[in-house]
Amino acid sequence: MKLKNNTVFDCAVIDISKVHNEAGNITVVENEINIPFNVKRVYYLYDVPGGEARGGHAHYELEQYVIAASGSFDVILDDGKNRKIVTLNRPNLALHIVPGLWRELDNFSSGSICLVLASHKYDESDYIRDYEEFLEFKK
Ligand code: TYD
Repeated sequence: MKLKNNTVFDCAVIDISKVHNEAGNITVVENEINIPFNVKRVYYLYDVPGGEARGGHAHYELEQYVIAASGSFDVILDDGKNRKIVTLNRPNLALHIVPGLWRELDNFSSGSICLVLASHKYDESDYIRDYEEFLEFKK
């Protein structure tokens, strides 16, 4: 399979609007309304021990919205030429990660929750988990 030649500049932080009132906020993500792909899977990372990093991999096809549903963490994006670090710290901000990029997550604050909305079901054959292999495929 061919790895997409997207770059870190194809990823953006999207401000998802929120419904606000004095009793709190609601943020809504709805297929075909305010997300550029259909969500097939939702998962969340939590109880990440201090100092741990997650997500050292790339995807061939999968794209995702990554949201700090609680707390904060950093997402390191890498396209083989450029690296970009995005800090997520508000539940109404989503980082859109396009396919073909290496990503890592670190600096999790205590109690943080990383919510991921993904365009595909879990499929190990869509992953590249070896960074050297990733660099080779990006050439
Ligand atoms: P992994 O993708 O390695 O996590 P991360 O990239 O965040 O460090 O997944 C860890 C384990 O969880 C691995 O055994 C695969 C499994 N897993 C599923 O079974 N389904 C899923 O949707 C995800 C995201 C992971």
